[in-house]
Amino acid sequence: MSTPENAILLAAFGSRLPGAEAALTHMSGLTRARYPEFRVETTLTSGTVRRHKGRTGGDASSPADVLRGLAAEGVKRLAVQSLHVIPGDEFRNLERLVNELREARVFERIELGRPLLGCAEDVRLVARTLLDLLPERGAGEAVLLMGHGTKGRANGVYRDLAEELRVLDPGVLIGALEAEPGLSDKVDELRVLGAETVHLMPLLFARGVHVERDMAGANDRSWLAGLTRAGFACHTHERGAGERPELAGIWLSHLDEAVARLLA
Ligand code: CO
Repeated sequence: MSTPENAILLAAFGSRLPGAEAALTHMSGLTRARYPEFRVETTLTSGTVRRHKGRTGGDASSPADVLRGLAAEGVKRLAVQSLHVIPGDEFRNLERLVNELREARVFERIELGRPLLGCAEDVRLVARTLLDLLPERGAGEAVLLMGHGTKGRANGVYRDLAEELRVLDPGVLIGALEAEPGLSDKVDELRVLGAETVHLMPLLFARGVHVERDMAGANDRSWLAGLTRAGFACHTHERGAGERPELAGIWLSHLDEAVARLLA
């Protein structure tokens, strides 16, 4: 039986691409199975994506709208789980909103679960988890993970993860799409490694535009095109991190911590 006073809100960046919904659907299903007594809702933190949804007949409600709606419907205890990868701007905005509602006592209790790479311990755990799910590789094969990247301080999280991975397996690299180090630095590193074949994978929650167009797209600006021009043979692996049970389990463990604080 669901207790309408207890709820979980999963907050993802969102995507314009229908195929990207698989990651959020996967996380919602896992969350409902784990917390059958909780009401489970989702929200999108990207204003750009929400405006697009609104224009195309979808739901354009913001996290603030959804949170206020849940309070109006009688939810008293709410765990908000970030489905972001790093504690960057999207997560910080969500955190600010949760703090405002906590101070305004809109809920009896409201707790926020940290993103995938929310602390140093997460970085170590994600590195070990990634190694287990990477494709089997022979000599001359490397893996390049594409992170989003941010201009803010949180970009250092990718460097920490890259360092952790390098120690475990020097053939696994991370580059950033919208920050440094980008693809050209990674091409240099792949050459130093002597790689001939590159497995390209996203370190992004969902299989959205960044995966379909910027990582694996047929356009000449994609990472696939850049690596191919640089002379590497490429295999693309397009599943978002939120579609992979091993990584989804780490987000869920952060939710478990938030729910434990909620019910403490
Ligand atoms: Co972006």
